[in-house]
Amino acid sequence: MTDTNRVLTDEMIEEIQRHIPRYPSKQAVTLPALHAVHSRLRHVPLQAVVEIAEMLELAPAQVQDTMTFYGFFKQDAPHGETRAWVCRSVSCMLRGGDELLEHMCERAGIAPGETTADGKLTIEYAECLGACEHAPCILANDDLHKSVTHDDADRLLDSL
Ligand code: FES
Repeated sequence: MTDTNRVLTDEMIEEIQRHIPRYPSKQAVTLPALHAVHSRLRHVPLQAVVEIAEMLELAPAQVQDTMTFYGFFKQDAPHGETRAWVCRSVSCMLRGGDELLEHMCERAGIAPGETTADGKLTIEYAECLGACEHAPCILANDDLHKSVTHDDADRLLDSL
């Protein structure tokens, strides 16, 4: 493989290398390595899996297995600039979480798990976000939105 095909940037490689001495084995670095790539590319393409495996002296299948175990990681295409997680666990469901998800998807013209054509937004359903007393909740990138009404959701979508 030529260097031009390389997916991992020097920055990602350095971050992964920094993790190696902190973990009991190279295999244990798999998850932090996947995060190092995903946080920058918003997905982990297959070629990145191969390169992570090379760095950690693993088979690509081992890295791929770990990645696919977690619904968090995207592979085929990057998620949107904003990834909005709408909670559907019991407290949020009882307080309109499902309707909120439906409302947001309808307004954005996508189904849960999809990304808008302009790449700005991905909407996903989430399990409990840990703020049940403020149901329904949405996590949009790192911002937790509590007691979200449809109007709040509209404002959030308009701001993107
Ligand atoms: S059930 Fe939605 S935050 Fe806990």
